[in-house]
Amino acid sequence: MCSIIGYRGKGAAAPVIVSGLKRMEYRGYDSVGVATESGKKINLKKGIGRVAEVNSSAGLDALPGTTGIGHTRWATHGKVTRANAHPHSSNSGSIAIVHNGIIENFEELKSSLSAQGYTFESETDTEVIANLLQKNHDATGSVKEAVVKTVSEIEGHYAFVAMFEDGQLAAARFHEPLILGIGQDDLFLSSDVLGFIEYTDDAVYMKDGSFAMLEDGKFQIFDFDGTDTSYEVTKVSKEFGDAYKGDYAHFTLKEIYEQPETVMRAGEKTTDAIKTAALLIRNTKSIYVTGSGTSYNAALLAKQILSRYAKIKVEPIISSELPFSPDIIEDDSVFVAMSQSGESADVLEAVRIAKQAGCKIISIVNLTSSSLARESDIVIGMNCGPEIGVAATKSFTAQLAVLYKLAEQLGGQTGTDFGGISESMLEMLENPTTIQQIAGKLRNVSDIYVLGRGIHYPIAIEAALKLKELTYIHAEGIAGGELKHGPLALMDSGVYVIIINPDDTTYSDTLTSAREIKTRGAKIIGISNVKSDVYDYWIEIPSTGEESYPILEIVPVQLLSYYAALEKDTDPDYPRNLAKSVTVK
Ligand code: AGP
Ligand code: GLU
Repeated sequence: MCSIIGYRGKGAAAPVIVSGLKRMEYRGYDSVGVATESGKKINLKKGIGRVAEVNSSAGLDALPGTTGIGHTRWATHGKVTRANAHPHSSNSGSIAIVHNGIIENFEELKSSLSAQGYTFESETDTEVIANLLQKNHDATGSVKEAVVKTVSEIEGHYAFVAMFEDGQLAAARFHEPLILGIGQDDLFLSSDVLGFIEYTDDAVYMKDGSFAMLEDGKFQIFDFDGTDTSYEVTKVSKEFGDAYKGDYAHFTLKEIYEQPETVMRAGEKTTDAIKTAALLIRNTKSIYVTGSGTSYNAALLAKQILSRYAKIKVEPIISSELPFSPDIIEDDSVFVAMSQSGESADVLEAVRIAKQAGCKIISIVNLTSSSLARESDIVIGMNCGPEIGVAATKSFTAQLAVLYKLAEQLGGQTGTDFGGISESMLEMLENPTTIQQIAGKLRNVSDIYVLGRGIHYPIAIEAALKLKELTYIHAEGIAGGELKHGPLALMDSGVYVIIINPDDTTYSDTLTSAREIKTRGAKIIGISNVKSDVYDYWIEIPSTGEESYPILEIVPVQLLSYYAALEKDTDPDYPRNLAKSVTVK
């Protein structure tokens, strides 16, 4: 998702801003821009594309001054054009602004401002904030009053940093992330700690509904009504600034190969939280598990794992669906939110709804300093380190590992041996040749189906998600038994079908499905510990004992998706149109 950044300090602002934007590139964006103040004048440059490209063509980091703002945009209002890229200036050119999120009432505000003579150069909702700030600043002569008035007029989800021509910075946050970094001689504002982690690890996670004003080495934080508000300076985890590819060609590949280690340490730093969560779950009637994308797929597995081993019933909920059926939630229940980033707007919205129903919130989250963690009663850390690749890989297996650990804590005998799982993963990862060969066959394929039963069905859904986001090939997860109820009509010689088929209670039914598909001419890729003549290609997974298969069987599909992405010449770390952290609804 887009990133905003602000800097006010003693050094040159533009190089700090450009390097911060580069570190946050993984979040996903389409255009980039920087504005600085020097000699009470605002300088601004922007363009479409990668930070490094725009920087070398436009010279973003050469802008003069020791105060500045920067932005990478993920378009919501208006096409990906230079004119729509941020920063945006107010009509007088005295204010420049970067903004993350959406202003829901921007059309009314825009027509009212237009009627008062304001003009607009972009299609964005952001330009409305710039001009409202100008109008309110002109009327009051005070930056603080201008912000208070402006935030009372705009509706939506947003974080913005506004720079005034005298170099003052004002930054407001409402349901979008914003962090203030406090250095020796400099102050930073950023959507992500990666924006300033090279300079300082002292930070204030700004409260929702608050704004900050920055002037020469000093800052003040206020509630939206303008009253002083309390804040806490915390140390951010340096670990999350440590995002380097090392010898790997891509972050995604590195993260796939980290899994033998990350499944072992999942939840390790928060074992007490797992115990408290188990106690709470045991004593509550209704339990919901929510998430988006891959984290929702992990929620589907939560249902399987907790019912199977701990006899606990949980209801998985797609976070973005909850606002449309909030009555699903029974009062005073337990609401488990799963999220790698802890910043997904849909998940945060679902948590708000659950809180209104009096639920206790347990989060299973990788970034334990995130907004989600702050909203939770109990925080279980996935502990898998920074995940930069847009496709969730190690965070998914860490979520599953935490779920198995939670099931154990609830008294379930899962029989899971994490040492064994880790070794099996290593074994698979050490020899990717078969997977690379199969990836070569997928270059011109337009449809892939992934079939699994029982606990393997959510894995089939997650596998299809990995394939579609990394390769742009249409992919779909199918519950094995549903084949005859529709999807069989799609099977022909142009189709590839991945069969998730370990040797457990689902084995023979799934093998039968594979035969039915093969008869229709489709190519079969079997993922199993047992070879069969029905498979055109066999990806062997080690036999470890039935219980650990789901964690293991996603790994070959992650690798297959990665190598197929290389075959198709797509960028596995930054799939088109997607963002790592979806902070807008
Ligand atoms: C997964 O590969 C996706 N990129 C996406 O579905 C992701 O899982 C989703 O946006 C949720 O993110 P979160 O776990 O950070 O909340
Ligand atoms: N709504 C703004 C736009 O479309 C900001 C989008 C973002 O968060 O990048 O420009």
